[in-house]
Amino acid sequence: MQGNYKALWLNDDLFDECLEVIDQRQLPFVYDTRHLTNTEEVVNAIKNMTVRGAGVIGSVAAFGIYIAAIEVEGDYEALKEKAALIRESRPTAVNLMWAVDRMMELLKDSDDLVDDAREAAIKLNDEEALESQKIAEYGCNIIEDILKKSGKTEINILTHCNAGWLAVIDEGTALAPIYEAQRRGIDVHVWVDETRPRNQGASLTAWELSQSGIKHTIIADNTGGHLMQHGMVDMVIVGADRVSANGDVANKIGTYLKALAAHDNNVPFYVAIPTSTFDFEIRDGVKGIPIEERSADEVRFIKGVDSEGVVREVRITPEDSPAINYGFDVTPARLITGLITNRGVCEADFDKIQEKFRG
Ligand code: MRU
Repeated sequence: MQGNYKALWLNDDLFDECLEVIDQRQLPFVYDTRHLTNTEEVVNAIKNMTVRGAGVIGSVAAFGIYIAAIEVEGDYEALKEKAALIRESRPTAVNLMWAVDRMMELLKDSDDLVDDAREAAIKLNDEEALESQKIAEYGCNIIEDILKKSGKTEINILTHCNAGWLAVIDEGTALAPIYEAQRRGIDVHVWVDETRPRNQGASLTAWELSQSGIKHTIIADNTGGHLMQHGMVDMVIVGADRVSANGDVANKIGTYLKALAAHDNNVPFYVAIPTSTFDFEIRDGVKGIPIEERSADEVRFIKGVDSEGVVREVRITPEDSPAINYGFDVTPARLITGLITNRGVCEADFDKIQEKFRG
């Protein structure tokens, strides 16, 4: 690790300031960064998952508006066209649309589009960082409670995908309470779902936890149910890409099956989110949240490093077998113990959500 626990930052070493991001496609094999200097590069980085994770996509989109403002030399009408391209670069994580809309709304009466966009993007990211801190505190209080009630000395937390600092500035959502637990001296061990097909758990979450010296074990995606049946999971914490008004949660494909297993085994199942992840326009998440379908090649090929240290992609399926690749699924609210937000913990229930966040 290069001593930098940030997924993105502004870099003014070049002629025009640009956005520098960690290339998450290459982790954990290679730590490398990319310079995003125009709208096309921003859009491609989101689409090809150089950057990923709902929060970081939103953060990159906000800075993307700043980069686009430089590109269009302060012309708001031209900026609108660039904003539309950024807004539609991925469909499920609502933080992307939220960040673009917020930036454009703030800039609509601006006299100095470039400076104002820069300031607004920095502000949005500073707020996200504070929200991540609050999620860390509220979530860790729950960890402490569960550990106390269990009478054990070590807590075992299962997580799916990557919802750490690579996914949300500054410490993530699902992993933020775990980082806080480490600070509070709690003995914590994390079960890391590999998260096929792109393996964000095995490659990114495991890498993050290794950087911070947090005990963890990578498991094949289908292992969680078995562990839960044998009392080896005390709680589950995942992040989310979009939460509908009734508390249904869209998150990385496979989350729903973990929630079913947790429900069947009385294991508390928490979802950690900043309030920007709510989509109040969608009442029923199972029916209404758009689910991204990505290239089938992500299922058919797998990336790894060979014994000579060379990163390679290999096919693991018969050449002509078709495959399908849904990126996300929706966990119904009834399977969720609680939503850990920057404004406290809330039941995944339409009325409770309305009361707390819209009242
Ligand atoms: O396809 P990805 O890697 O962008 O999906 C990320 C996830 O599903 C995370 O769990 C989610 O964004 C929550 S962290 C904000």
